[in-house]
Amino acid sequence: MTSVGNPHGLADTPHISSVNEPNLVNEKFNLEINESMHLDDLINFAETPPTLIHEATAVSNPSMCCVGNNLYFLSWMIQNGYKNQIACVYTDPPFGTAQTFVSSESVSSYSDKLNGGAYLEFQIRRMRLIHLLLREGGILYLHIDETMLFQLKLLLDTVFGKSRYLGMITRRKCSSKNSVAKGVGDVADYVLMYTKGDRSKAKLERIVYPWTEEYIKKEFPKSENDSEGNVRKFKLVPVAASGKRNGKTGGLWRGNFPPDGKHWNPTPEKLDLLDSQGRIHWSSNGNPRKKVYLDESVGKRATNIVMDFRDAFNQNSISCGYPTEKNSDFVKMLIGAASEEGDIILDPFSGSGSTMVAASEIERKFIGIDFGIDAWRHYFRRLVKGEVLQKQLKDFAFLEPKDIAILESTLESEKITLLSDSKNLSTLVELLEQFNQLATE
Ligand SMILES: C[S@@+](CC[C@H](N)C(=O)[O-])C[C@H]1O[C@@H](n2cnc3c(N)ncnc32)[C@H](O)[C@@H]1O
Repeated sequence: MTSVGNPHGLADTPHISSVNEPNLVNEKFNLEINESMHLDDLINFAETPPTLIHEATAVSNPSMCCVGNNLYFLSWMIQNGYKNQIACVYTDPPFGTAQTFVSSESVSSYSDKLNGGAYLEFQIRRMRLIHLLLREGGILYLHIDETMLFQLKLLLDTVFGKSRYLGMITRRKCSSKNSVAKGVGDVADYVLMYTKGDRSKAKLERIVYPWTEEYIKKEFPKSENDSEGNVRKFKLVPVAASGKRNGKTGGLWRGNFPPDGKHWNPTPEKLDLLDSQGRIHWSSNGNPRKKVYLDESVGKRATNIVMDFRDAFNQNSISCGYPTEKNSDFVKMLIGAASEEGDIILDPFSGSGSTMVAASEIERKFIGIDFGIDAWRHYFRRLVKGEVLQKQLKDFAFLEPKDIAILESTLESEKITLLSDSKNLSTLVELLEQFNQLATE
């Protein structure tokens, strides 16, 4: 094992890295950038190139899995052409909870023991490099809980600029917790959103919920056939909006005035056009309403309170078994709005790979970084064996030597290059040995 132990307040659970990071003991750290490491030292932190474990062949810009300390890889990326190239960062770092997280197989996955000034200094180093890596208009989603929420908001205001703050999503992460002795049950976590550069140029589409059968049934109850016989689902919406107007929108249309206190919306000219296209529905008592078709709708707009994307281990549903695995559909919704096909999504605390899974599903390239052996073990199992039901995990064998060939061909077909910051790790077999050693400890 190449674990460096815990000389600098970093992980004390098994991890892979040869990198020694400058001490994180600044108890009085006060969110001033000039109290942190000098920017040049951060940029130049990676002094040697990473070790290549697997190279995706015949691809010019592969996705990358980076096994090691993210400070090293973020610095290496800046030195190697990724500055201003990243469309979106979604990341879910340690929250400062003072816990050690254990996987569903009782393996120690990672330790979240940094706190106070050391925690903030750890974050500010990484956030400054992330800011350099994002393209203009690029989006950062930082997923955290309330432990360090307020400190991280101030820290990101310092690094990105207060005016670059785009808002915060409150997510319901689990069902109600009735076990609290005092106060309220904690069912929420949060995503802070920032852009790089002018706020008005943020490359962020409207965030919309993916369609579900249940939602379609409720929202688009009507249907009709088009001229080619295809069924089109639609809903009906009013053609009058609140507020009395005096102009054309307050006058007669097709022999009717708008209802009391309302005006026509859209205008009578536009309503004529819609009617000629068969897009106005007339009720039996002559009440017009506009048809809105499902196949032309972008989806239900998400608000800053998201209820429907709880984490798998909190719902007893499909989970890979990593203790802090996030809902990859939630991640997909966020990164999808901040990127287009082929863009690069970065997650420097990638854990079991929920961001990488989400990015692949919507044809984005990804760069995932993690130093946890158990994190990579879970991600590779996801790659090789797919998602599994949590209750089946006990039968879900650890990766075996025969899986190496499958893993290699999966890395190839998914166009993923695998790198390490460790000098003692250069082959997939060595990595596999570390996984198996961890599993039997
Ligand atoms: C909250 S977990 C991420 C979980 C992930 N979102 C998922 O869905 O599985 C945080 C991760 O950060 C990793 N980590 C912590 N410090 C790190 C560092 N300095 N460099 C790289 N990874 C680190 C841990 O190993 C852990 O897997």
